[in-house]
Amino acid sequence: MAPSRLLLLASQLLLLLGFSQPYFLTNCSLSHGSSPVWAVAVDCGGRQLLSVPADLPPGTTSLFFSYNRLQAVSRLDFRSMRRLRRLVLSYNRIARVEQGSFLHQGALETLDLSYNLLCNLTENMFQGLSNLTRLDLSSNQIRVLHPIVFRLLTSVHTVLLESNLLRRVEDVQPLLLLPNIHSLKLASNLFTSFQSSDLPLTQSSALETLDLSSCRLLESFGITTPVFPCLRCLDLSMSGVQSGLRWDVTNRTFLRSVSQLSFNEPLLPLDNVLHVLQSLDSLAEVQLNYVEDWIRGGLLDTLCLIPTLRTLVLVYNHLGRSTLGLARCSQLSILDLSWTYLRTLPEGSVRSMKRLKVLRLQTNFLTEVPKDVGRLVSLRTLDLNDNLISELRCGDFGDAAGLTDLDLGTNRIAKLDGCAFQNLTRLRTLDLSHNLLWTYGGTFRTGLQSLERLDLSRGFLFILHNGDFQGLRSLRYLDVSSDHIGRVQQKAFGGLKDLETLTVSIPLDYECNFRGLRRLRNLTVYLSTDRGQTRPPRASPQALYELRSLKTFTVVCRGFHFGIPLEPPEELLQTMPGLEAFAAINAFTSAPRPDTFRYLPRLQNLTLGKTDLSDLEPELFHFVPDLQTLDLSETSLRSLDFLSGADLFRLRSLSLRDNRLVTVNHTVLRSLPALVQLDLTGNPFACDCSNAAFIEWAKTNNQTQVVNAHEYGCAFPPSRHGARLMDFDTQSCFLDLGLVCFASSGALVVLTLLASFVHHFLRWQMLYAYRLFLAFLYDRRRKRAGPERYDAFVSYNVHDEDWVYRHLLPELEGRQGWRLCLHHRDFQPGRPILENITDAIYSSRKTLCVVSRRYLQSEWCSREVQMASFRLFDEQKDVLVLLFLEDIPSRYLSPYHRMRRLVKRRTYLSWTQAASHPGLFWDNVRRALETGDGPGQDAALLTGVPDPRQGPE
Ligand SMILES: *[C@@H]1O[C@H](CO)[C@@H](O)[C@H](O)[C@H]1NC(C)=O
Ligand SMILES: *[C@@H]1O[C@H](CO)[C@@H](O)[C@H](O)[C@H]1NC(C)=O
Ligand SMILES: *[C@@H]1O[C@H](CO)[C@@H](O)[C@H](O)[C@H]1NC(C)=O
Ligand SMILES: *[C@@H]1O[C@H](CO)[C@@H](O)[C@H](O)[C@H]1NC(C)=O
Ligand SMILES: *[C@@H]1O[C@H](CO)[C@@H](O)[C@H](O)[C@H]1NC(C)=O
Repeated sequence: MAPSRLLLLASQLLLLLGFSQPYFLTNCSLSHGSSPVWAVAVDCGGRQLLSVPADLPPGTTSLFFSYNRLQAVSRLDFRSMRRLRRLVLSYNRIARVEQGSFLHQGALETLDLSYNLLCNLTENMFQGLSNLTRLDLSSNQIRVLHPIVFRLLTSVHTVLLESNLLRRVEDVQPLLLLPNIHSLKLASNLFTSFQSSDLPLTQSSALETLDLSSCRLLESFGITTPVFPCLRCLDLSMSGVQSGLRWDVTNRTFLRSVSQLSFNEPLLPLDNVLHVLQSLDSLAEVQLNYVEDWIRGGLLDTLCLIPTLRTLVLVYNHLGRSTLGLARCSQLSILDLSWTYLRTLPEGSVRSMKRLKVLRLQTNFLTEVPKDVGRLVSLRTLDLNDNLISELRCGDFGDAAGLTDLDLGTNRIAKLDGCAFQNLTRLRTLDLSHNLLWTYGGTFRTGLQSLERLDLSRGFLFILHNGDFQGLRSLRYLDVSSDHIGRVQQKAFGGLKDLETLTVSIPLDYECNFRGLRRLRNLTVYLSTDRGQTRPPRASPQALYELRSLKTFTVVCRGFHFGIPLEPPEELLQTMPGLEAFAAINAFTSAPRPDTFRYLPRLQNLTLGKTDLSDLEPELFHFVPDLQTLDLSETSLRSLDFLSGADLFRLRSLSLRDNRLVTVNHTVLRSLPALVQLDLTGNPFACDCSNAAFIEWAKTNNQTQVVNAHEYGCAFPPSRHGARLMDFDTQSCFLDLGLVCFASSGALVVLTLLASFVHHFLRWQMLYAYRLFLAFLYDRRRKRAGPERYDAFVSYNVHDEDWVYRHLLPELEGRQGWRLCLHHRDFQPGRPILENITDAIYSSRKTLCVVSRRYLQSEWCSREVQMASFRLFDEQKDVLVLLFLEDIPSRYLSPYHRMRRLVKRRTYLSWTQAASHPGLFWDNVRRALETGDGPGQDAALLTGVPDPRQGPE
C-alpha cells in the first residue's frame, strides 16, 4: 500500500538522511563535557563485542574497548578514526593484528594491547604510529619480535612488554635504540640472562627505567659495556628465584646514574645483594620488599653506608619488633615503614636522622606516637594513619615544630588535651578523622595558627562548643561531619573568618549560626533526625545564615521527616544571593513552591534528590534561567511534562535516574535547546510502540546523548522483561500503519515526530500519499457509480485558460464534438475540490493535461497528473494525454520527476511544434482521444509526433 510504504520510507530516510553523526551509538557511549573540549571519548568497554562497531564517530579521540571479544585487528577497524589519540584494546582475545592496521593513526599517542593473545609481532603491524609515545603489550604470549617491528616508533618513550614469553634479550635490542625510549618494562618474561655483551649496541641507549622484576629464570645480570649511561631506575625485584642471580658489573661507572633500585627477593644470597649495592655509585632511592631475612642479616648496615642514599622504602616487610639497624642511616630524608607490622618503633631507631623530612608509618600496630618523633626537628610530614594510637600526650611532637602535614586518621584517639599540638605552629593540614573523639579540650582555641585544613569527620563527638575553633585563624577547610553528632552550639564556628569549605552535621531541630563565615564558599549540612524531633528552628534564616560568598550549598537530610527543615526555603536561600550550585537531598517533602528559587539568579547546578516531585511545575525554573545541570534523581517523576514551558535554554545536562518514567515524550525536550546529556538510567520503561518515537529520537538526534541508552531495560510488558529498550523493533510500529495509521494513536505520535522533517523534505510526497489514499477510498465507492460521462477532463492552469477557451474548446467541443469536463464550468460547487477532481478524472475517458511552466508549478495540476496516472495503475487504463503548450527543457522537468518519467516513456503533443500546422496538431489530439485506453496503445497511434527525446530532453 502506497501510504504505508511512504511512511516506512520516511522513517528510514529519517534514519539515513541528514544526521551524519548522531550521538546514539548502538553499543558504546560517548562521554561528554570531557576536557579538553575537543575530545570525543567513546566507551565500548565490557560489552562482549566481537568486532569494532561501524558507527563510531570519525572524530573519536579516545576509544576504550577493553573487556570485549575482539579476536583480530583489521585494517578497516580504525581506518576512519584519524584523530585517535588514545586506543585501549586490553582484555580482548586479539591474536592477530593485520599489517598496516594503524596506518591512519598518525595522531595516536597511547596504544594499549595488554591482556590479549598476541604471540608474534610482525613486521608492519605498528606502521604509521609516528606519534605514539606509550605502547602497552603486557600480558600477551609474545615470543617473537620481528627485528624491525618497532622501527618507525620514533616518538615512543614507554614500552611495556611484561608478562610475555620472551627468552632472548637480543630481541628487545631494537627497542633500546629508539631515539626517545625512556622506560622499558620486561618483567615476568623467560630471560635467563641479561648481558650487555649480548646487545651489540652501536650506540648507547637513552633508557632511564628498566624493569626486569619477576624474571624468575634470570641467572645473570651483567653490564660490561657503557651502554646505559642514563639508566636511573633498575627494578630487579623477584628476579632469579630459581637459581639466584649473578651480578656482573665490571666497572662502577657503567651504572653511575642509577639512583633507584628495587629488590625484594629473599632467595638471592645476601652477599650477592651487597655486591650489587656496592657497584652502584649514586644510589639515592632503594625499595626493598619482602626482605626481612636480609634485614635481620644486617643488610641495612651495608645500605646505610651508601652516602648518596636519601630514600628508603621498606613497605611490606614483616619487621615486627626488630630494631632494624636503621640508626646508621642518618642521611635519609624519606623513610617509609608503612605496612610493616610494627608494634613499636624502638627508641633511638630514627632519632639520628637529622635530615628526615618524611616519615611514613601508615597501617601498623603502633599504640602511641613513637618517642623519637618529638626529636626530629627537620620532620615535615608524618603519617600515622591506621594505627592503634589511643592517646596524644603533651610533648609527643615536642621539637618537631616544623611539621606541616600530620595524619592521625583512623586511630582510637578519644580525647585531646590542650597541649598536644602546642608547638606545631607551622602545621597546615591535620587529619583526625575516624577516631573516637568526644572532646577537643581547647586544643583549637589557641595555637595551630597556620592550620588550613582540619578533618574531624567521623568522630564520636556530641557537642561543638562556642568558640571551639577560635584559634584557627588560617583555617580554610573544616569537616566536622559525623554519624553521631549531638549539638552544635550557636557560635561554634566563631572566629573562622577565612573558612571556605565547611561540612557539618546538625540535628534537624537545632539552630546553628553560620553568620560570621564571611568567606564561606562551600557549605554542606547533614541534618539528622536521629532523635525523631522535627521542630524547625525558631530563629529566622537571616539571623543564622547571611552567607554572601556562598557558591555551593548542599543539604542532606538523614532519616524520615515530615516538615521542611529549611522553612521557609526561599527566605533561607535569599541569604545566599551568589549561590551557583544548590543540592537538597531528602530535604523537601514535596515539590518546592514555584517561587522557591526567586532569589537565586546565578544558580547553574540544581539537585533535588530523594523527594517526591510528582507535582513539580515548570514555573519553578522560571527564576533560574541560567541553569546548566539539573539532577532530579529518585524523585518519583512519571513524565517529562514539568519541562514543557520551563524554558531552560542553557540546560546542558539533565539527570532523571531512578524515577518512574514508563514512556518518554521526548518532544518536550525541545524546550531545552542546549541539552547535550540526558540520563534516564533506572526507569521502568515500556518496550512497546508508545516509546517508538523516543527510541528513534535517541538513536538519531545529533545533539543530545541519552547516557547509556543501550543499557536501559524493559519493565513492561512482562513478556519483555530482561530485554533492552533500544533493541525494541520500532519498525513494526511504523509498518502497521498502512490502514490503521489514522486511527491508531501510536501513529499520531510518529506523525508528530515526522512533522518537522516532513515539512522540510517530504511535504509533497506526504500530501500526495494522503490524497492518493483518499482517491483510492473514493474510487472504491465510485466504481459502483455510473459510466464515464465525459470524453476528456481537461487539466490546466488558470493562466492558460485563455488558450483553452480560445483554441482548445472551439476545436475539440465545437469542431470535433467531444464532451469535455472543465473545472471552471463543470465542477460541482460546494464539494471538496479533491472530490471534484477525482470525480472528473473517473467520469472522463481521458485526462488531457495542458502542460506549461505554470502548470508544473501549480500544486493542483500536478495532483491531477498523479491521480490520472494512478488510474492507470489502478484500473489498468491509460487515460493521460499530455499536451505541451511550450517547450520545457528537461532541467525544468527534473523537480517534477513523475512528469519527467511520463514524458520519457510516452509520446506527447507539442503546441509550439505544431503551430505551423494546426490542422495536423488537432488531428493528432483527436486520434489520442479516440484511442482505447489499454496501456501502450497510443504510442503506436501517434506516430506523427516528434520523438520526445528531441523535445524537452
Ligand atoms: C604529531 O604530534 C605533533 C606534535 O604534537 C603534531 O603537531 C602532529 O600534528 C601530530 N601528527 C599527527 C599525524 O597528528
Ligand atoms: C610470525 O609471523 C610472520 C608473518 O605472519 C610469519 O612469517 C612467521 O613465520 C611467524 N613466526 C612465528 C614463529 O610464528
Ligand atoms: C671504568 O670506565 C671508565 C670510562 O668508561 C674508565 O675511565 C675507567 O678507567 C674504568 N675503570 C676500570 C676500573 O676499568
Ligand atoms: C615546645 O617547645 C619548647 C621548646 O622547644 C619545649 O620546651 C616545650 O616542652 C614544647 N612544648 C610541648 C608541649 O611539647
Ligand atoms: C564542597 O565540599 C564538599 C565536601 O568537602 C566537596 O565534596 C565538594 O566537592 C565541594 N564543592 C566544591 C564546588 O568545592
